[in-house]
Amino acid sequence: MFGHPPLKLSICGKMLMLAAVMALQAPTAGAQSADPRLLALSCAGCHGPEGRSPGTIPALHGQGEGAIAAALRSFRDGQRPSTVMTRIAKGYPDQEIDAVAREIAAQWK
Ligand code: HEC
Repeated sequence: MFGHPPLKLSICGKMLMLAAVMALQAPTAGAQSADPRLLALSCAGCHGPEGRSPGTIPALHGQGEGAIAAALRSFRDGQRPSTVMTRIAKGYPDQEIDAVAREIAAQWK
């Protein structure tokens, strides 16, 4: 009789998945030597195996190291609009951005 609590659906399945992905990545934040192959695997979760995205997420395969690294930096620094990449790239120091970009450009061509 004291009124209903506001019904808010604050979390959808997609956000849960995102949270899980980000939780998986959290331990790499600030690490000096995260294995670039593992980093690339975490990217494949969204960008598709070898970056061959099956859906609307942009494909990464065939992209050059410089382009990937530049995109990650501009996401991280908030210069490029994004839905999720800014949050993902935030945990990446420069040397990890370079390492994962090198790994992807070398392996996902
Ligand atoms: C949770 C899903 C998800 C994960 C994990 C993810 N990405 Fe992305 N990525 C996206 C989406 C969605 C976009 C489109 C931009 C946006 O909305 O953030 C994108 C865009 C990009 C782009 C720009 C591509 C282009 O051609 O415009 C690059 C480069 C990129 N991601 C690299 C990575 C790398 C490297 C990783 C792993 C460290 C990674 N992404 C992990 C979802 C993800």
